[in-house]
Amino acid sequence: MANSTPMSASEFQRVAERADAMQPFLAMEIMERAFAMERDGARIAHLEIGEPEFRAPKVVVDACVQALVGGETRYSDSRGLIELREAIARDTRRRFGVEVAPERVIVSSGTSPAMLMVFSLLVDPGDEVVLGTPHYPCYPNFIRYCGGVPVTVPTDARAGYQLEAEAVREVITPRTRAIVVGSPGNPTGAVQHAETLRGLAELGLPLISDEIYDGLVYDDVKVTSALEVSDEAFVLDGFSKRYAMTGFRLGYAIAPEWALRRLQIMGQNLFISPNRFVQHAGIAALEHGGDAVKEMRAAYQERRDLIVEGLRGLGFGIPSLPEGAFYVLADARRFGADSLALAFELLERAHVGTTPGVDFGAAGEGMLRFCYAASEETIERALESLGRILPELEERCAGTASATEREPGASSGTS
Ligand SMILES: Cc1ncc(COP(=O)(O)O)c(C=O)c1O
Repeated sequence: MANSTPMSASEFQRVAERADAMQPFLAMEIMERAFAMERDGARIAHLEIGEPEFRAPKVVVDACVQALVGGETRYSDSRGLIELREAIARDTRRRFGVEVAPERVIVSSGTSPAMLMVFSLLVDPGDEVVLGTPHYPCYPNFIRYCGGVPVTVPTDARAGYQLEAEAVREVITPRTRAIVVGSPGNPTGAVQHAETLRGLAELGLPLISDEIYDGLVYDDVKVTSALEVSDEAFVLDGFSKRYAMTGFRLGYAIAPEWALRRLQIMGQNLFISPNRFVQHAGIAALEHGGDAVKEMRAAYQERRDLIVEGLRGLGFGIPSLPEGAFYVLADARRFGADSLALAFELLERAHVGTTPGVDFGAAGEGMLRFCYAASEETIERALESLGRILPELEERCAGTASATEREPGASSGTS
C-alpha cells in the first residue's frame, strides 16, 4: 500500500512561486468591484478599464455571426487562419510600409496570450527584462511569472515619456534578455519617436514592442513600428482597442524567423488555436473596418480634450496632452497620496471608476488614470460626480498635511 501520510493544510495549499509572483491587475480589480456594485443597482461611470464604449463595427459583428452560423466553429491552425495572417501582413504594409511574410504572424486569443508566449520564449528564471515606467501592469507580472526580473527605467512626462537608449544602457547586465516598449503607451498615451526606437534596437537585445494602440493617435502624430527599425523585433498587437473588439479576444505577435517554430509549439500546447469564427471577424475588421476606426478616433480626440479640460478644472495636474491611446494619467496628490485608496473611495462614493496610478509601477503613485474611450455622456457624468466629492477630499488631504507638519519631530533637524 502506498504511503498515505496526509499533507498538512499548508503543504496541501502551497502554490507555485510563479502564481504567487503575480500581482492583482488593479484596473480589473476596480472593474470587478464596479460590476458587483452594478448588480446591487449602482450606476457606475467606467473610466477605469481600457475599453471603448463603442460597439464593434457592424461589418465585424456580421462577419462573426455569419462565420458562426456557417459552421466555422472548429479548431484552426494554431497560428491562425492563413487568410487572417495574410490580411495582417497586408495591414502591416499599409500602416508602416513594412513587408512581413504571413508566416511571421502568430494569431492568438487576444494580445495577452501572444505577450505571454513571447515572454515565455525569451525569459528564463533570473533573466532581466528592461521596461520604462510608468508601464502597462501586465509586463512586469508576465516577466515575474516566467521567473524573470523586471528592471524599470523612469521616463519623464516633460520629455514625452521617451524610453531613452542611454538610460536603458545603464541598467543592462549580462542577465538582460529583452527590452519592452509600448507605443502609443498605456497609461501615458505617449508615442515613442523613431529615433528612440532606433536607439533601443541598436542596443542589440530583443525588442518587444507593444503596438496595440497604433491607429489611435491624435493631432496627426505618426507612430513608428519597431518593425521599421529592426527585423528582429517582436511586435504585439491586436483588435481590442483599435476596432473596439475587447470581448472578441483576438490579437497577434509578429516574430522573427528564428522564433516561429517555438511559438507555434507553445500555441499548439497552451491554446490549441484562437477562436475560429472570431478570426473571420478580424479579417472583416482589417478589410472593411477602416472608416469605423477613423470615426472612433475623431470621437476620442474630442473626448480627450473634454476630459483633460474637465480634470484640470477639478484640480488634477496634467502636464501635457496625451498623443495617443485613450488614457490620461493625472496627478491626484492634492486629493490623496495613496492612489489605490483614492480610486476605491471615488468608486464607492462618486460611482466613478478610475485606475490607481500605482498599478503602473511606483512611478505612478499619486496619480489616477482616466480612460476616455467612454462615451461623452459617461465622461460628463463622471466629471460632475467627481466635482461633488473632490473639495472634501482636498480639504481632508490639506488637513492631514498640516497635522503632519505640526507633529513633533516632523520638521527637519529636530530628531
Ligand atoms: C498596452 C496593452 N497591451 C496589451 C493589452 C491586452 O490587450 P488584449 O485585450 O488584446 O489582450 C492591453 C489591454 O489593456 C494594453 O493596454
